Amino acid sequence: MTVLALAVEGRGLVDPREPAVHADDEAVLRGRAAFETVRVYGGIPFKLESHLVRLAGSCERIGIEPPDADACRELASLALGHAGEPDVSLRLYRTAGREQAGAPQLFVLVSAIPPHLEELRARGIKVVSLLGVRAEAPWLLGGVKSTSYAVNMAAEAEARSRGADDAVFVTDDGLVLEGPVTNLWWRRGSTLFTPSLDLGILAGVTRDTVLELAPEHGFDVEQGRFPLSELARADEAFTSSSVRELLPVVELDGKAIPRGDAAATLQAALREKAQRLR
Ligand SMILES: Cc1ncc(COP(=O)(O)O)c(C=O)c1O
Repeated sequence: MTVLALAVEGRGLVDPREPAVHADDEAVLRGRAAFETVRVYGGIPFKLESHLVRLAGSCERIGIEPPDADACRELASLALGHAGEPDVSLRLYRTAGREQAGAPQLFVLVSAIPPHLEELRARGIKVVSLLGVRAEAPWLLGGVKSTSYAVNMAAEAEARSRGADDAVFVTDDGLVLEGPVTNLWWRRGSTLFTPSLDLGILAGVTRDTVLELAPEHGFDVEQGRFPLSELARADEAFTSSSVRELLPVVELDGKAIPRGDAAATLQAALREKAQRLR
């Protein structure tokens, strides 16, 4: 994503071409940092407060002092003011700090929204199932948004190498978890299904928004532990995440999944809600 602005705690606005972290920051050395990706609509970060709560939770799980929420809001508005574009992605990073000196660092990045997303939304995405980790053991950091995302990125690359757009993690006993950077949904009749948080998946902010919007649009929601075969026989499926929003899934492991109206209806409802909050 093209970086439009960078703001660093204690330094203010920094030229994005300049370094913002030390080479011996534990974020670099061991991936010990937490982050959030927030969609900004018309200059207003959508559900920033929910993201700040999740960021604090992720920090606690990896033993980093959570950042001050006001400092996050101030850096965000500084960077957004400088970016000069209203519809962007805002990422907040809390790193563990330098290996020996140890003070946690905070910085935010504002980036352009990847231009191909609307094309993907129009054509729908192909996904392949890959073995993931059911992280019910807290030390496996299920549900934590840390920068140790090399496995998630490798899963995306594996999906692409198999001719798909994205991956769906499943447990070794075949339960659907989530995508590398998305939550997963499917519909049968007027019921939407999504894996439950006790599986150790990330509590997506967009997932929460879909949970709020679904009943207003005539959908029941069931959260639970579902085998991949349930997704395979869905009437429709889609992913949810802050920047990608809702993307229809049109193929799973080489087999077509029909398209339906729920993804488009809820995508429109999400945009409308973001519009109302502006
Ligand atoms: C593993 C994982 N699941 C789900 C999501 C979706 O979360 P959100 O809707 O808060 O963007 C993300 C977001 O990056 C993620 O990394």
